[in-house]
Amino acid sequence: MGLRNEARRYGSAALWLHWTIALLVIAALVFIELHGLYPKGSEAREAVKQIHFQLGMLVLLLMLARLAWRLGNPPPPITPAPRPWEAFLARLVHVFFYAALLALPLLGLASLQASGKPPSFLGLPLPALMAEDKALGKSLKGAHELIGNIVIWLIVLHVVAGFWHHLVRRDDTLLRMLPAWLARRLGR
Ligand code: HEM
Ligand code: HEM
Repeated sequence: MGLRNEARRYGSAALWLHWTIALLVIAALVFIELHGLYPKGSEAREAVKQIHFQLGMLVLLLMLARLAWRLGNPPPPITPAPRPWEAFLARLVHVFFYAALLALPLLGLASLQASGKPPSFLGLPLPALMAEDKALGKSLKGAHELIGNIVIWLIVLHVVAGFWHHLVRRDDTLLRMLPAWLARRLGR
């Protein structure tokens, strides 16, 4: 399988980026949910939040590469073609994912810097986007949490839609996004 998208399938670059980012996003969400289990100010709570920040910053890096790749690699069409409203809804969710996965890490970073708690990335200092401003830090955190929660529900919708395409519509939406060996096994 080549790096570039093919006539009927996503290429290996799109597959690797999709599944690596999917894993990192889900892991970032699991770690931020975990932080609620530990008391405020505890070391475990801080550690779990740190892991959330690091995973989220990795998502930003990979999303920049993915956006650049996506612009030069249009997705392969689905066979048989979905109804126009389905294609529109899918497009809306995908555009929102791209925007949210670029915006969330930046909002997270900006909110921590504005709150006077600038994070580093893999031990390296990050450029300062924000001067300290506690009120602004709170609003940015609020925006980050709102968008983060919308992403959770859209992931649920996105996964259900993937299975619905495969099991109910019986089209190749999901098979196109699976590694060739797995698509062959599940293919009809
Ligand atoms: C893929 C990227 C990311 C996703 C999907 C994401 C999602 C979320 C979600 C769902 C929450 C919890 C919202 C709630 O409590 O209702 C949250 C909290 C938070 N995130 Fe992120 N986030 C991402 C990246 C980042 C990054 C890169 C940073 C910082 C550099 C960051 C900083 C924070 C902070 C400070 C909180 C609040 C934690 C607290 O309650 O103290 N996030 N994020
Ligand atoms: C395990 C769960 C997942 C499954 C089964 C899945 C499945 C799929 C499938 C089948 C497509 C192709 C849809 C099409 O071309 O119309 C797709 C595309 C996409 N998925 Fe997922 N996905 C999953 C998780 C995620 C996660 C966690 C994210 C990030 C929040 C995500 C973001 C995207 C984006 C942005 C696209 C559009 C790709 C493009 O055309 O550029 N997916 N996914």
